Parts: sequence; structure tokens; C-alpha cells
Amino acid sequence: MGRLSWLFLSLSAIAGRACAQLDGATPSSETFLRRGYHSSTVGGGFVWIDGGAFSYYKNQVNRYYSNTLLALDLREDWTNDTVSFISNAKDLPAGSNPSTAPSLLYGNGLWYDDDTGYLYTGFSGLRYYSGAAGWPMELTVFKTDGEGGGTWATALNASTNAFNDMIRPMHPAVAAGNGKGYALGGTTPVNDTETEIMAGGMLSFDFETKLFRNSTVQIHGGYTSLANMVYVPQFGEEGIFVLIGGAFTQGPYDIDWYSNGEIYVMDAKTEVFYSQNTTGVTPPSGREEFCTAVVASTNETVEIFMYGGWGGTLGEEQATPYDEIYILTLPAFEWVKVDYTPAQARLAHSCEAVGGSQILVIGGLDGSTSDVTYNGTFNDRDPNEQGLAVFNMTSLDWETKYTADSPAYVQSDLVAEVYTSGTGNATWDNDNIESIFSKRNFTITSSGGAGNNAASSSAA
Ligand SMILES: *[C@@H]1O[C@H](CO)[C@@H](O)[C@H](O)[C@H]1NC(C)=O
Ligand SMILES: *[C@@H]1O[C@H](CO)[C@@H](O)[C@H](O)[C@H]1NC(C)=O
Ligand SMILES: *[C@@H]1O[C@H](CO)[C@@H](O)[C@H](O)[C@H]1NC(C)=O
Ligand SMILES: *[C@@H]1O[C@H](CO)[C@@H](O)[C@H](O)[C@H]1NC(C)=O
Ligand SMILES: *[C@@H]1O[C@H](CO)[C@@H](O)[C@H](O)[C@H]1NC(C)=O
Ligand SMILES: *[C@@H]1O[C@H](CO)[C@@H](O)[C@H](O)[C@H]1NC(C)=O
Ligand SMILES: *[C@@H]1O[C@H](CO)[C@@H](O)[C@H](O)[C@H]1NC(C)=O
Ligand SMILES: *[C@@H]1O[C@H](CO)[C@@H](O)[C@H](O)[C@H]1NC(C)=O
Ligand SMILES: *[C@@H]1O[C@H](CO)[C@@H](O)[C@H](O)[C@H]1NC(C)=O
Ligand SMILES: *[C@@H]1O[C@H](CO)[C@@H](O)[C@H](O)[C@H]1NC(C)=O
Repeated sequence: MGRLSWLFLSLSAIAGRACAQLDGATPSSETFLRRGYHSSTVGGGFVWIDGGAFSYYKNQVNRYYSNTLLALDLREDWTNDTVSFISNAKDLPAGSNPSTAPSLLYGNGLWYDDDTGYLYTGFSGLRYYSGAAGWPMELTVFKTDGEGGGTWATALNASTNAFNDMIRPMHPAVAAGNGKGYALGGTTPVNDTETEIMAGGMLSFDFETKLFRNSTVQIHGGYTSLANMVYVPQFGEEGIFVLIGGAFTQGPYDIDWYSNGEIYVMDAKTEVFYSQNTTGVTPPSGREEFCTAVVASTNETVEIFMYGGWGGTLGEEQATPYDEIYILTLPAFEWVKVDYTPAQARLAHSCEAVGGSQILVIGGLDGSTSDVTYNGTFNDRDPNEQGLAVFNMTSLDWETKYTADSPAYVQSDLVAEVYTSGTGNATWDNDNIESIFSKRNFTITSSGGAGNNAASSSAA
């Protein structure tokens, strides 16, 4: 069935009208309304937030594309009142053309290289419809300085051979780890319009050799879009990448949701995907524009959190029920669901595991409105101050503050129950997946970088 038509309802809400660019840190906590469709990751003690759009209220609703790179300091405590963004302009060195690093929508992630402190952007997302600076497919790098700032450079310019015939995908599944960044599938706009086609292949960039590739992958017999991917360094010889949610297609206009009861895992060493079925509660229904975060527990398990999203239809009754938090725990491959009543719709947000048991939720739009023409998804005030909230993965409660020096993540009772009542390991569906999960290293405390849905795992 053709579902492509609804994938971009939210896009209509912000595009197609004069939407200029502005410093993404402009709104004060008093005026802030919403942030969404940005990319984020964690690296070097900071959360990095790039691209996307935001709105604030001053005499009227003002909507802008963010044209700065934001940093949030994770070395200090903050509360919902005291949190503040460091905002970095995106000027490339003199003589560069275009003169600024791109700011994009729907990029769905950034790559951070732990070894160098380099943050990569520009490889995914949609450029603005109007007022665009051009921004062809290129790879730009922000060489971070350890204080939330840094300098921009072009890592691979638009003339790079690898970019010939390459499409900059929007909504790919983005993650980094084991020395590489990945962007799997996604869609591509035709002539920067809302008409889109599925983008095949998996882009990868080797942080050391600088080799940028588009490799052929076959998952579920076709193309993937709107999924998220997380890097889990603790399993497999060189870690694994786990694909969550999203849609697949076997033909250009024949798209359907992934069943979250069948999980695709890529062995980081071989870059081959294998599938493993889940057990537990009914898996989360198919969805897009949700967020994921991953964390390793003191019990040598890894929990992948999945929060929010939507099923492609706006409106109170359609969107609000997606206000759910599911946890996929490895190596049991069992889903559990956090017990609370859906109250607010949230889509196009991102999540980052930010230390100890904390997940930071960044932005998100209200999908409960059915009016995308004016009172759309960007027009109301986010109940989260500055669009930020912290979820405690152990107590399973929302917090209004971030604690820098917090103890390592300990399983919630909900997750512990899986292991005290079960066998621990999944019933492996194939020898390959069993072999991958027979190799474990829980002395690894950092993630090696991550995508939208970052992995600052800690096991110590
Ligand atoms: C692009 O990068 C290549 C390799 O660094 C360089 O040789 C070439 O001059 C650059 N092209 C432009 C237009 O900057
Ligand atoms: C990767 O290559 C495949 C096969 O040539 C192509 O269909 C796909 O569009 C490419 N992906 C991107 C993101 O350019
Ligand atoms: C995209 O734009 C080019 C140049 O204007 C035009 O030739 C082409 O037909 C357009 N493609 C689509 C699918 O509209
Ligand atoms: C998990 O770790 C906690 C301490 O962090 C320990 O008390 C508990 O027994 C462990 N559970 C299992 C199933 O190993
Ligand atoms: C937006 O919604 C409010 C409250 O429902 C309504 O009063 C207002 O007229 C709407 N604005 C537009 C432009 O539709
Ligand atoms: C901000 O934090 C204070 C104190 O924890 C809390 O009372 C208030 O509800 C929070 N505001 C929001 C919007 O979360
Ligand atoms: C999260 O909840 C657990 C269990 O209640 C608590 O021990 C821990 O301190 C909390 N973490 C933070 C950062 O508040
Ligand atoms: C996994 O689940 C899918 C979908 O329900 C099913 O088609 C497949 O046979 C299952 N695989 C195994 C190995 O049980
Ligand atoms: C799970 O598998 C690992 C690796 O093969 C093994 O070391 C461990 O003993 C298994 N755990 C249980 C509870 O069977
Ligand atoms: C486990 O990871 C740690 C930290 O990266 C590393 O020092 C150690 O060599 C690894 N152990 C094995 C057996 O691979």
C-alpha cells in the first residue's frame, strides 16, 4: 500500500511558508515553543544538536530553521530553569563554497569520533526549500575543543568521487561506532520537493581512512527508511548495530512498517545483518520519528529504550497513544513496556543516554493537533521547559534536572524481572546471531560515538 503521502505531513507544517534561518538558541525559556527534526549525539562530555527547526512566541508564533550547532554541557548539573545552550555559528574557512556548513532537517543523526573529538554532519537530511544556501552533498566536520566549541572544516567536498550519483538521504538510520559512521536507507526528495523515493544502500564513512562508501545491503528483502540504529559495543567481536522501528519497502511505492518483533542486528566486524525475533509484551507497533537511547547495565545487559513517535496520522486519538516507552533488553531480546498512561504526543524528538541512568529527551512536536495548516505541530508550547526532559531508566520516572555525577545505570525492577524469571539469553534464531552474542565485553564504558539515538553506555 502506498503510504508515502503521509510521511511528510509534518514537513508541510513548516515548509511551504517563509521560514528563515536563525540561531537555534534564540528562544528564551519564556518564549520557547517547540524544537523538532534536528539531529543529536553525545560526545566529549557534550550533547550536540544540529539542524532541525524551532518555534517561539513573540507577538505571534515564529518558526525558524536552526542554523547553528548547539552544545549542552554534561559536566555540570542543571535544572529545567538553569540549563543553557552554547551556540556555534557554522562558518567554514574563508574561501569555502558554500561558506557555511549545512543545516538540515530530517538528518536523524550525527557521527562523533571519540578518538579525535570530530563531529561529522552534512551527510543526511533535507535542505531548506527557500533561502537555501545551496549545500550540495558533502561531509563537514566540527573539530570540537572540549569546551562546547570548535572549528568547522570541509571533510569531503562536493566534488568527492564517492558523492557522484549519491543521494543525500533524509530519515536514514544513523549511528557511529567501531571507527565508522553509518547512514542506512532513508528517502530522498525529488528536486527538493515533498515527492520522495526510497534511498537504497548504506552509507559509511571510515574515520581513519576517510573512505566514504555506499554499500548494498538487503534487509527484509528491500529498502529501509525512518528507522533508528544504535551501536552496542558490548556484544560481538567489534560490537553490533541494532536497527529499531521504521519502515521497509520492496518496491518504490510499497512501504510498510517493520514488525518490532523481528530485530535486525549488524555485526560491526563484517557489516552483515542478521535477524532475531523477540519475546515479551506485544512489541511496539510500527512507527516513525520516535527516539531511541541505549545503555549497558551493571548486570551486563544492554537496554534499548524507544519513546514516542507516530503512525503517520496526526490528531489526538491517533498520535497521543504513541506516548509510550518500550525497552528491548539484550541478550534476552525481550520487550517490556513502562507502565504509564499516554498523555502527550511527541514526535520528531531525539534521545540521548547522558550518563548513569539518565536519558535526555530533546525537543519533539505535538502530533495531537490535526490542523497542520496553521495551528500545526510547532505552534503550541512544549510542556517540557526548553523542550528538554530527563528520564530515569532505573526508577522509570521523569525528572526536571540533570545530574552530572550520577551512579552507573542499574536495571529497573521491570528489566530485572526478565532475567530473574527467564533464561537470560534469547532462544537464538540462527548460528550467526548466537555466535555474535557469545562474544561479550562489559568492561567497555564508552560507546565509540552514536547517532541521533546515542549510546553513552556505562558498565562500570
Ligand atoms: C575537493 O577536494 C579534493 C581533495 O581534497 C581537492 O583536490 C579539490 O580541489 C576540492 N575541490 C574543490 C572544488 O574544492
Ligand atoms: C546507493 O547505491 C544504490 C545502488 O546503486 C542506489 O540505488 C542508492 O540510491 C544509493 N544510495 C544513496 C544514498 O545514494
Ligand atoms: C527535477 O528538475 C529537473 C530540472 O528542472 C527536471 O528536468 C526534472 O524533470 C525534475 N524531476 C522531477 C521528478 O520533477
Ligand atoms: C544485578 O545487579 C545487582 C547489583 O547491581 C545485583 O544485586 C543483582 O543480584 C543482579 N541481578 C542479577 C540477576 O544478576
Ligand atoms: C489556533 O487555535 C486557537 C485555539 O484553538 C484558535 O483560537 C485560533 O483561532 C487558531 N488560529 C488559527 C490561525 O487558526
Ligand atoms: C521545572 O522544575 C521544577 C522543580 O523541579 C518543577 O516544579 C517544574 O514543574 C518544572 N517545570 C517544567 C516545565 O517541567
Ligand atoms: C535514578 O533512580 C534511581 C532509583 O530510584 C536512583 O538511585 C538514582 O539516583 C536516580 N538517578 C538520578 C540521576 O537521579
Ligand atoms: C520471526 O518472526 C517473523 C515474523 O513474525 C516470522 O515470519 C519468522 O518465521 C520468525 N523467525 C523465526 C526464526 O522464528
Ligand atoms: C548466555 O550466553 C553466554 C554466551 O554464550 C554464556 O556465557 C552464558 O552462560 C549464557 N547465560 C545463560 C544464563 O545461559
Ligand atoms: C574489553 O574492552 C576493553 C575496553 O575497551 C579492552 O581494554 C579489553 O581489551 C577488551 N577485552 C577483550 C577480551 O576484548
